Amino acid sequence: MATPDQDAVRQVDPTAIDPPANPETTSPTTAVATIKAGPHLVGRSTCKECHQENHKLHAMHGHSQTFHTVESSPEIIAKFAGQVFDGGKDFGTYHYQVNDRERLDAKIPATFGDEAFPLQYALGSGHNAFTLLTLITEESGETAALEHRASWYASQNGLNITPGHANKRPSDGLELFGSISRGDAMNKCIDCHTTSAKIVNERIEDLVPSVNCEKCHGPGSEHVRLARVQTNPPPYSVGKDDWDTESEIQLCGDCHRLPKNISEKELREYPDLLVRFQPVGLLRSRCYLESEGTMRCTTCHQPHRSLHLVSKNEHIENCIACHQEQEPDHVICPVSPREDCIRCHMPPMEQEQGLTFHDHWIRVRAAGD
Ligand code: HEC
Ligand code: HEC
Ligand code: HEC
Ligand code: HEC
Ligand code: HEC
Ligand code: HEC
Ligand code: HEC
Repeated sequence: MATPDQDAVRQVDPTAIDPPANPETTSPTTAVATIKAGPHLVGRSTCKECHQENHKLHAMHGHSQTFHTVESSPEIIAKFAGQVFDGGKDFGTYHYQVNDRERLDAKIPATFGDEAFPLQYALGSGHNAFTLLTLITEESGETAALEHRASWYASQNGLNITPGHANKRPSDGLELFGSISRGDAMNKCIDCHTTSAKIVNERIEDLVPSVNCEKCHGPGSEHVRLARVQTNPPPYSVGKDDWDTESEIQLCGDCHRLPKNISEKELREYPDLLVRFQPVGLLRSRCYLESEGTMRCTTCHQPHRSLHLVSKNEHIENCIACHQEQEPDHVICPVSPREDCIRCHMPPMEQEQGLTFHDHWIRVRAAGD
C-alpha cells in the first residue's frame, strides 16, 4: 500500500552540513531561512541504513501510509473509478471516473451535467478508510480544502458517507461534493497526516506524506551526519535528558487529541465519541494518575509497531506488568486476575460507519456502561 512518493523528499546529501538550495524552488531568502533553521529532513530511507528493524515495522504501521496523492495511487483510484454513490437528497449522486489525464474525478450529472470535480489527495492508510480531499480556491482568493462526502471503508469494502457528514446541509454548489475547511482547520488536517507540507494555491509543496520518522523524532540531518563519524552519536530525540512521559503524551496527543482540544462540557460528561481521543481517556484513568508519571503511550504501544501485529496476550501482559502479586503496590482484579482485561476495562466501542476505538479511560465500569 506504500505510495511511490513515500520516500520522496528533496534529494539532499544527508552528510552535508548546509542544506543545499534547490535553484528551482528556493529563493535566496528562503535558502538563508533554512540554514538558520538548523537540521533538515533527510527522509525515512536514510534512517533505514542503521535502524532496519524500526524502518521495517514502521512501513507496516498506519502512520507510514496515511496520506496519498490520488493520481499516483492506482489502488485508491481502483476503489472509486466506475462507482456510483448516492450522497443523499440534498446532494445528488456521484459518478466516479478516470479522466483522459489518468486522474480521478467525480460528477453529479443531474445537477452539473458533464462538469467534473477533481479528487486530489486521499487520507487514511486504508486499514480502516480512505477519505478524499481536494484543495480549491475560494472567491476570496484563499485556498481551502474540500473533504469529499463519500469515503471508502475496509469493513464495508465499499463507499459510504464520510464520518461527520451525515447531518451536513450543503450551502452552495461546491458543497454538494463535501464540506469545506479553511485556515487552521485545513492546515491541521494536512499537518496531522503528513511529515512536511506547504499549502500554496491549490497545491501542496515540499510534500513528505504520512507520519514518518522525522515527524516524531525531528529533522535528522545532524544525527545522521554525526552517526556516520562516531559510533556513539550524541542524544538526538527520545534520547535527550529532558524527554519524559509528559513530552511523549504531548507528542502523541498533538494528533490523537489532548483534553485542551475538547470542550469542558464534553470532558465533564465524557460522551462515547471521546473514545476516539485516546490521550483524553488515559489522562483521567487511575492507572495514569496513580503511577507517579511512569505510565505513557509506550507503556502499552511500541510506537513503530502496528496494532494489527500485536496479539491479545501482549495487551494482557501489559496490564499484568503492574497488576499482579509480585507488585504489592498494585491491586489485583478480583474477577479475572489473568485474562481478558481489555474486554471489561477498555472495551472497543463502535463509532460512525463501524469504526471501532478502545476506551482508554481504564476503569471499573458500571454494568451496561
Ligand atoms: C549512520 C547510522 C545512523 C543513521 C543513518 C541514523 N541513525 Fe539513529 N542512531 C544511530 C546510532 C548509532 C544510535 C545510538 C545507538 C542506538 O540507540 O541504536 C542512534 C540512535 C537513535 C535514536 C535513539 C536515541 C536518541 O538520541 O534519540 C533515535 C530516535 C534515532 N536514532 C532515530 C533516527 C532517525 C529518525 C534517523 C533518520 C532520520 C536515524 N536515526 C538515522 C545511528 C544512525
Ligand atoms: C503527526 C500526527 C501523529 C502523531 C504525532 C502520532 N500519531 Fe498515531 N496516528 C496518526 C494517524 C493520522 C493515524 C491513522 C493512521 C491510518 O490512517 O491508519 C494514527 C494511528 C495510530 C495507531 C493505530 C494504527 C496502527 O497501525 O497501529 C496507533 C496505535 C497510534 N497511532 C499510536 C500513536 C502513538 C503511541 C503516538 C506517539 C508515540 C502517535 N500515534 C503519534 C497520527 C499521529
Ligand atoms: C489533530 C490531528 C488530526 C486532524 C486535524 C485530522 N486527523 Fe485524520 N486522523 C488523525 C488520527 C490521530 C487518526 C487515527 C485515529 C482516528 O481515526 O481518530 C486519524 C485517522 C484518519 C483517517 C483513517 C480512519 C481511521 O479511523 O483510521 C482518515 C480517513 C482521516 N483521518 C482523514 C482526515 C481528514 C480528511 C482530515 C481533515 C479534513 C483529518 N483527518 C483531520 C488525526 C487527525
Ligand atoms: C509516531 C511517532 C514515531 C514515529 C513515526 C517513529 N518513532 Fe521512533 N520512537 C518514537 C518514540 C515515542 C520512541 C521512544 C520509545 C520508548 O520510549 O519506549 C521511539 C524510539 C526510537 C528509537 C530508539 C529505541 C528503539 O526502538 O530502538 C529509534 C532508533 C527510533 N525510534 C527510530 C525510528 C525510525 C528509524 C523511524 C522511522 C522508520 C521512527 N523511529 C518512527 C516515536 C516514533
Ligand atoms: C494500558 C495500556 C495502554 C496505554 C497506556 C495506551 N493504550 Fe492505546 N491501546 C491499548 C489497547 C489494549 C488497544 C486496543 C488494541 C486492539 O486490540 O486493537 C489500544 C488501541 C489504541 C489505538 C487504536 C484505536 C483504538 O482506540 O482502538 C490508538 C490510536 C491508541 N491506542 C493510541 C494510544 C495513545 C496515543 C496512547 C497514549 C496517550 C495510548 N494509546 C495509551 C492500550 C493502551
Ligand atoms: C504502570 C502500571 C500500570 C499499568 C501498566 C496498568 N495499570 Fe491499572 N492501575 C495502576 C494503578 C497505580 C492503579 C490504582 C490502584 C493501584 O494502585 O493498583 C490502577 C487501577 C486500575 C483499575 C481500577 C480503576 C478504578 O476505576 O478503580 C483498573 C480496572 C485497572 N487499573 C485496569 C488496568 C488494565 C486493564 C490495564 C491494562 C490495559 C492496566 N490497568 C495497566 C497502574 C497500572
Ligand atoms: C469479566 C470482566 C473482567 C475481566 C475479564 C477483568 N476484570 Fe478487572 N474488574 C472487573 C470488575 C467487575 C471489577 C470490580 C470488582 C469489584 O469491585 O468487586 C474489576 C476490578 C479490577 C481492578 C480494581 C481492583 C480493586 O481492588 O480496586 C483492577 C486493578 C482490575 N480489575 C484489573 C484487571 C486486569 C489487569 C484484568 C486482566 C488480567 C482484568 N481486570 C480482567 C471485571 C473484569
